[in-house]
Order: sequence, then structure tokens, then C-alpha cells
Amino acid sequence: MDEQGLIRPGGAGWRVQRGEGFTVHLDTPGDAHLAFAAAVARGLEVRPRRLEPRFIYDEAGSELYEAITEQPEYYPTRTEGAILAACAGELAERIGPTTLVELGSGSSTKTRHLIDAWRARGALTYVPIDVSATAIAAAAVDLRGRYPGLRIEGVASTFQRGLPLVGRIHPKTLLFLGSTLGNLEPDEIAAFFRQISEVLAEGDAFVLGIDLVKDPAVLEAAYADAAGVTERFILNVFARMNRELGAGLDVDAFCVDSFYDVERQRVEMWARARRRQRLRVAPLGRGYTLAVGERILVEISRKFTIEHIEQEASRFELWVDDVFSDPDGYFAVLLLRGGPRRAGWSPTAGSGAPSPSRPEVPPVGAWRDVPAGIAWLGEPATPRQVAGVRLGATPVTCAEYRGFVDDGGYDRDELWSEEGLRFIQEHQIVAPLGWERRGGRWWVHGVPLDHLRPVTGITFHEAAAFAGWACARLPTEAEWEKAASWDPEHGRRRSWPWGELPPDPRRVNAGGGLAGPVAVGSYPHSVSFYGLHQALGDVWEWVQGEEGPVLRGGSWQTALPELTSMLRRSASGVHRAPTVGLRLAHDLEEAP
Ligand code: TRP
Repeated sequence: MDEQGLIRPGGAGWRVQRGEGFTVHLDTPGDAHLAFAAAVARGLEVRPRRLEPRFIYDEAGSELYEAITEQPEYYPTRTEGAILAACAGELAERIGPTTLVELGSGSSTKTRHLIDAWRARGALTYVPIDVSATAIAAAAVDLRGRYPGLRIEGVASTFQRGLPLVGRIHPKTLLFLGSTLGNLEPDEIAAFFRQISEVLAEGDAFVLGIDLVKDPAVLEAAYADAAGVTERFILNVFARMNRELGAGLDVDAFCVDSFYDVERQRVEMWARARRRQRLRVAPLGRGYTLAVGERILVEISRKFTIEHIEQEASRFELWVDDVFSDPDGYFAVLLLRGGPRRAGWSPTAGSGAPSPSRPEVPPVGAWRDVPAGIAWLGEPATPRQVAGVRLGATPVTCAEYRGFVDDGGYDRDELWSEEGLRFIQEHQIVAPLGWERRGGRWWVHGVPLDHLRPVTGITFHEAAAFAGWACARLPTEAEWEKAASWDPEHGRRRSWPWGELPPDPRRVNAGGGLAGPVAVGSYPHSVSFYGLHQALGDVWEWVQGEEGPVLRGGSWQTALPELTSMLRRSASGVHRAPTVGLRLAHDLEEAP
């Protein structure tokens, strides 16, 4: 291999820096000096005020983080290092010859366990990606001294911008250690897994280090070391603002409060202004006042369970091949692979018992029972007898629908009505709108299929055929309306599933703000009386109306003022749109 072949960042904004035996590609967008300023301004204008974690890691920040890893209370680095030392040989054996690509490589210290294992089996190339160019250069100098001939080609950038550059390296092993995943917000975690899935080809591997949920006392000590290094690390971001943005802050007038939120499973690190301060963002000509006692959320560190990671990763066709952990179960190193999962999803999974309404555990496959009885439905409202019915807790997901497609659902004539069969044959429809099979995997409108998103782009006929395949049926319009809006305790219909407070973006995905449906279970606090998730917004749902197909519930595109439990649209059974999905129903007597 020549010295340059591996990475060729196309386009302006990249520079190459050559060191003794290594190369670093520097990401230097024209507005680099403004990125920090813009991020700080953005963070100060939301409530609570907060900062983006990546800006903590300038040169001083990266050095302070290294010092944290040596504190006695900070167990993650030590524990992960021991796990890696123990499993490196097995990983190298199972993965085989590869290029190691590390995201957020920092000092690359723990990586040496892996480098040792691969070097013992042959030549190796190492691609560190980190926001700190000085950290990469220092690590490269150190590694070259230890491993003569090790080929190193770094990328100084965020992993969001760095990842696409390594897509064509194959075979490769992506490393994301130190539980850096936990510093991201849930939507960023989803976007991250999607990006990993995009670049992970068959035969590639993804090694992920995660800190596990544990005793809060252990966690709180780890993020508030007695020597005060973590505090200095957090406050360094304010010193950086002074250096780079002319912020004019008195860094000593801040203190740090850290605590573990058991419910959200995350450590929160807040900086608090002990006196009134003025914060200038000179490059943008803006200023902010921090009141006495005002807090800024500087960083979060989420803690995980293996199941949670499995679920998040499986949304994007990433699956956990192996788990390595320490005897205390403090930390875990996961080996993940891309491509179709080995275990199949079963269409009849789930039980009638409501699953807990936690965003971490989306109620996929769960059912909600609506007992027989009277409800005032329709417009004008009239009393209607509705038989007992069991409805899906959420709209049907892409993973569930994919089971039907992969099972040959579109070729099984017995599942289709005469009209439906004629339609899909005439238009050669073999999957929902925008679905495409490439390399043994499904892509939807060009991105990897997201298992947790509601399926969209299906006609009434496809919805009905899927329901038949899943040994269920579509809800009738009255059943849907009762389950979404009826409040039997007060004997009245709610304007919205959750009650009488008008919809807003925290309650429902509508109004077009999110450009598509989101994962099921994303709005655990806006369920109906009977426990239906996302009855409004996200996707219109096909139901059986008295005179033919009807759509209920509005979608991610529906304007908020239009969105109520009564909203309905009659539609042709062949309507096929990126805003339309379905929910399943069963008669209560013969429900599973
Ligand atoms: N990824 C590390 C973690 O979440 C980063 C970290 C360690 C950190 N200590 C910190 C971030 C203190 C902010 C503040 O454990």
C-alpha cells in the first residue's frame, strides 16, 4: 500500500499534515472559528442552557480528560482497559485481518491492547479520528515509537464528518470506546448508529465500549473525583470561551454540580454561576447574562444496559455478536456486526400486559385491551356499542412489516383481496414505497431501514394483507376512535388522546417539524386512556370504515391546529403515501 491511498477526503476544507511516519487529514472548514461561537450561542439560547460535548476536548481539555482517567474514582478507563486486554486476542481471531478505525481516539492508550493482538497476527493500519489534532499527533508519535512500521493515517474531525471518509476501507473494524456514546442525546445516538450502519459492510466489525447502569454512589464518585480534576475539566470549556470567544468570564465564579438521575440513567454535570456574569460571544457580537445561581448543563454521561444497546443498534440492522464484561459488571465491550440479524422477529410476539411507558423500552409488539361497552363517537357524537377489541400499542414498525415482506407476503395470493392482488400485480409492487433491497439489506428512501419507525408508504390493500399475515385484522373506525379518544372514567371523549391540552411538539410528531415519523414509544406521556401510543401524528392509520377505507390520526405532516382525535379522511384503497401506515387489531375473545 502506498502512503496515501487509504483516505482521500474530497472537496475543499481538508488539509494534510505529515509527521514522522504518519499522516493526519485536518478538517478545516472555512467557518471553523465560528463553529464554537455558533454552538455556544445556540446552547445559551435554549432552556436549560447547555453546551455541546465535543467542544470540551480542545488541547487543554484532552489533557485534563487523560488526568481524569487516572483518578482512583474513575473506574471506566481502567475497567475497559482490563476487558480489552482480556478479549483482544479473541477479537483479533474472530475478526481477522482488518484496519482499525477509532472514533474519538484521544491518547489511544487502551487501543494498544488491540494493536498488540493484531500485530501479533500480521501487519496493521490504524486510523484514529478525533476532534483534537494535537491528541492524534501525540498518540501517533507514541505509537510509532512502540510499533515500528505501524501505518497510521488520522482524521482530525468530528466522527460525523470523519465516518463517511472511511466507508470505502474494507475490511475495517470501527472502535468507539470509553462510553463516549453516553455523551450523546438519544436522537444523536440513533443518528450515530444509522451512520455506522451505512459504512459497515459485510465482514466489517464494530467494537463498542459502554458504561453500564450501576449503584449511583459509584457513578457519582466517578464524576466528582476528590482531587477536583473533573471539575477543572468541566470548567475548562469556560476558559476556552475566554481564549477563543473573548467571553470575559470569571471562571472561578462557577462551581460544578454533578448527580446521577436514576430514572433517565445518566450523570448530569452542571456548571453554576455563583454570581451574576456577562458572557460575550465576540465573533457573533452577542452577549448573555447569567443570573446568580443559573445553571448550564455542560455534559451528560448516559449509562446503558446491554438490552438497550441491542435494541437501539437493531433499529439499523446492527446486531450484537458478543459481549465482554468485567467481574463486577461495571463496563462492557460489545462486538457488533452489520447486516441482517440472525434471530427472526415473530409477528405474534408480545402480550396483553401493558409494558412500562419508558422511552428506553418502546412497546413494540405490545397490545392494549379496550373492553366492550358504550362510547360516544362520530360527529355529531352518538352513543355506539363497541365490542371488546385488542389494539396494537403502537403503529406497526418497519421491522414488523419487513418480516411480512421477507416471508414472501407479496407473493402469497391467499393473503390478498381480489382488488388488492390486481393492484399490486398491475403496478408491480413488491414492498412499501421507497423500499429497496441492496446487499441483503433493506434501505428506505436511501437510508438503512429503521426498525423502530412506523412503516409508511403502504396502500389499504397492503395494510390488510399484512394484518392477515400477522393473524390479526385492521381496526374498525369505531374501535380506533374509542381506543384513541374515549375516557370511560369521565364518560366523555377527549379532544386529544392525552386529554384537553392542545398538541405541541413535546406531545406529538406533527406539523412537519421532524420531516418524517419517529420511533414508536417516543411519546410515552401522550398515550390515550387505553394506552395507545402515537394515535395522533407520526402516521395516518388505515382503518375499516363503514363505507370503505378511512385514514385516522393525522401524520407528521398534519398541521397542529387540524390535529384532533376526530380528524378523519376517507381515502381510496390504493392511496400510497409516505405519511400512511397502520395499527393492528384483534377481536378480544380470540386475541393471542
Ligand atoms: N466519555 C466519558 C464518560 O462519559 C467522558 C467523561 C468522563 C466526562 N468524565 C467526564 C465528560 C466528566 C464530562 C465530565 O465517562
